[in-house]
Amino acid sequence: MAYEFSQDIAGKVVLITGGARGIGREIARVFAEHEARICICDLNEADLQEACKELEALGAECIYAATNVVDDKQVQELVDKVVDKWGRVDILVNNAGITRDNLLVRMKEEDWDAVLAVNLKGVFLVTRAVAKVMMKQRSGKIINIASVVGVMGNVGQANYSASKGGVIAFTKTVAKELASRGINVNAIAPGFIKTKMTEVLSEEVKARLMSNIPLKRLGEPRDVANTCLFLASSLSDYITGQTILVDGGMV
Ligand SMILES: NC(=O)c1ccc[n+]([C@@H]2O[C@H](COP(=O)([O-])OP(=O)(O)OC[C@H]3O[C@@H](n4cnc5c(N)ncnc54)[C@H](O)[C@@H]3O)[C@@H](O)[C@H]2O)c1
Repeated sequence: MAYEFSQDIAGKVVLITGGARGIGREIARVFAEHEARICICDLNEADLQEACKELEALGAECIYAATNVVDDKQVQELVDKVVDKWGRVDILVNNAGITRDNLLVRMKEEDWDAVLAVNLKGVFLVTRAVAKVMMKQRSGKIINIASVVGVMGNVGQANYSASKGGVIAFTKTVAKELASRGINVNAIAPGFIKTKMTEVLSEEVKARLMSNIPLKRLGEPRDVANTCLFLASSLSDYITGQTILVDGGMV
């Protein structure tokens, strides 16, 4: 029988961090279109409420939680909320992330700490809490949103590139630890994707970036979401510990 994403993903319980906007929200849309049961977490309750309404209109069951991924107590409450509601977590997408760019010599310690906290410690805390649930189930898919910057480095992003390189290394280790329990752990490293994070770039910077992208366009959030769907599906069952670059051929 031909493979159908809908049959594979329908009813699966998906937890997406930073799901109220940008790439995380698009990932939530793709899963909603495939009739998953979705929990999004983010910082702002009003944004979450609005996003959840949209996902429900697409036909998904959706709940949300205002959770700061840096706070272990809030993270545990988030995972408990999902398990209380649906009894399991099939797919975790660690997407929440921030930037605080500056050249190394001008970078403030607090900007280093903030980026490492959300982008790396946040991934650790949510993964640790969800892994305990998935280990009992003996199944699960964990997808970490890293960045090409974690592979190639980028001027002005010492904190961000260190955090994303850390996410890629974390992915490899956790994949090895959880493999025997039927849990796949992979990362996606997007290139430059059209979201609020990249909106702030000047036309000149965008033009310069474009000259390094063989496919000659910035990525769409949907490009990342589609890769996420693949890594969440049974099509990728024999893939773990990997990082897929979604960057138009840039790296
Ligand atoms: N946009 C790009 O070009 C690009 C490229 C590579 C990687 N990424 C990565 O993709 C992910 C999503 O980025 P985006 O472009 O959609 O950014 P975005 O800023 O539009 O969305 C990020 C979301 O994460 C949430 N968030 C931030 N801190 C949080 C916290 N402590 N707890 C919970 N939620 C928090 C924000 O409120 C926001 O809704 C990030 O991890 C980012 O590093 C983005």
